[in-house]
Amino acid sequence: MEYLLGIDIGTSGTKTVLFDKDANTISSRACEYPLYQEKNGWAEQEPADWWNAAAEGIKHVIRESAIDPREIKGIGLSGQMHGLVMLDAKGEPLRRSIIWCDQRTGKEVEDMNRLLTPEKLIEITANPALTGFTAAKILWVKKNEPDVYRQCAHILLPKDYIRYKLTGEFATEVSDASGMQLMDVPKRDWSDVVLDTLGIERSLLGKMYESPDITGEVHKEAAAATGLAPGTIVVGGAGDNPAAAIGTGIVSEGSAFTTIGTSGVVYAISDKVAIDKKGRVHTLCASVPGKWTVMSCTQGAGLSLQWLRNHVCSPEVAEAKAKSVDPYEIMTAMAAEVSIGADRLLYLPYLMGERSPHPDPDCRGTFFGLSAIHERKHLIRAVLEGVAYSQLECVDVFREMGVSIKDMMICGGGARSPVWRQMFADMYQCPVSTIKAEQGGALGAAILAGVGAGIYKDLEETCRKLILKKSVQEPIEANSAEYQKYYKLYKELYVTLFDSFKKLAQL
Ligand code: XUL
Repeated sequence: MEYLLGIDIGTSGTKTVLFDKDANTISSRACEYPLYQEKNGWAEQEPADWWNAAAEGIKHVIRESAIDPREIKGIGLSGQMHGLVMLDAKGEPLRRSIIWCDQRTGKEVEDMNRLLTPEKLIEITANPALTGFTAAKILWVKKNEPDVYRQCAHILLPKDYIRYKLTGEFATEVSDASGMQLMDVPKRDWSDVVLDTLGIERSLLGKMYESPDITGEVHKEAAAATGLAPGTIVVGGAGDNPAAAIGTGIVSEGSAFTTIGTSGVVYAISDKVAIDKKGRVHTLCASVPGKWTVMSCTQGAGLSLQWLRNHVCSPEVAEAKAKSVDPYEIMTAMAAEVSIGADRLLYLPYLMGERSPHPDPDCRGTFFGLSAIHERKHLIRAVLEGVAYSQLECVDVFREMGVSIKDMMICGGGARSPVWRQMFADMYQCPVSTIKAEQGGALGAAILAGVGAGIYKDLEETCRKLILKKSVQEPIEANSAEYQKYYKLYKELYVTLFDSFKKLAQL
C-alpha cells in the first residue's frame, strides 16, 4: 500500500495525519503546546515544542496504523504562517519564535514604509508593511536583540523549521514565503530590492521552491527520532491557509473558503496577481503553481471563543467534562437559545489587535451594549456573531475587488458548529459547505506530497476527484436582513473607537 503523511504545525497544537491514496484518514494525532504572552500584544512559541509534537505525532500514527514506514511515499508540511525562527550556525534556535499574531512591531512597520515607501512595498511584496508579517519581526530583533541577530545564520518559517529537523535542508516554498514580506510576489522569488533596503542578507533565507516540489529526504537522525524510513521525500508543502485551500479543493478561480481556527481566514484563488491598493487583504503566491491568492486574516476568531471558554465559561467546561463532550458544543447550543443581535450586545474580536480589514496593532476586544439582562449565553452569541461580522467585512472587500464569492467552503475548528455555520451562510448570503475529509491543512499538505511523489499527476484534477462536500447550509433571507442591521453598527464601532484604542495603547 502507499500512504502520505501531512503535518500541520498550528498555533494550539500540531496535527499529524496519515492518509491513504484516496484521502482517507488512517491515523491522526494532535499534540498541544503553550503560547507565551509576556506582554500585551506579544505572542511567542518554542520551536522545540513544535518538533517534539511533530515527532510524537509521527511515531503515534506509524505505531497505531501498524504500517511499514517505507510505505509512506511522501511527507507534506503545513504550518502557521509569518512566524520568525532564528537559528545559529549549528542549527539551534537562538530565541523563541515570534509568531503570526504578535503585534510588537509598530515602529518597524513605520521604518519599512520610510525606507521602501508604501507604494513600492505594495508593488513588490503585494502587501502593505504589516506588523504580523515576518520582515518587521526580523527588524525588531535586529534593533532590540543585536546579539541574537549577530549570531543568526538561518531564518525560517515554523513549518520550514520542521523540514530542517527532518531533512537538514534550509528551504521554503512560495505560498508561506509570500507572508514574510521579503519576496517579489509577482516573480515568485526573494526580492533583492527589499532585502538590500532592509539590510537582511539573502544567505540567511531558505532556498525557494513551489509547493509540490521535493525539497529533501528524511535523514538518519530524524528517522531514528520519528520511526520514519530514511530517504522518505519531503515536499515544499504550504502555509496553513494555502494548504487548507488544497485540502478543501479551492484550486481554481471562483471558489473560496473560510477557516475558523485561532485566526479567521477568507481565501480565494486568482489566475493573476490581484492587489487591494488599500492593503485591507493580502495577496500571496498560491500553493497551486502559477496561481495567486487573495486572503484576509483576522487575528482573534477561534481565539475569541477559546478565551471565553477559558475565562468565563467554567460551568460549561465542567458540564462538558461530566458529559464527555466538547465544551464548544454546549456553548454554541446556548447561543442558539438567543435571537439574532444577542439582545443588543455586540462584540469586536480584536483580542490580538487586528490585521484584515483593519491593519491595527492597537485595537482591542470590546463588548458593546452590555446590560444587566445579559447572561453567559448572550456573551457567547455576541462572540460568535462578532467573529462572523469580522469575516463578512473581509468578504465585502473581496467583492469590492471583483473576486466573486458565490459558494463558500468552511473548515477549521469553528466549522464543526452548525449554529456558527448558519451565521456565516446568512451573513455572506451564499451557501456554506463542509468537506467530507475534515483534515484541512494536513490533507492539503499530504496531497502536495502525493504530487511530489508522482502518485497524483495533476493537482487540480486530484482535488476535484478527492475533495467531496459533506453538508451545505443555505442562507435564510430573513436572518440576513436582521444581521445587516447589527452589521452596520458593528462596522461603525471600529471607526468610532479608533482614537480611543490609540489612547488605550499609550496608557
Ligand atoms: C495568516 C495568518 C494565520 C496563521 C495562523 O495570514 O497569520 O492564519 O497562519 O495559523
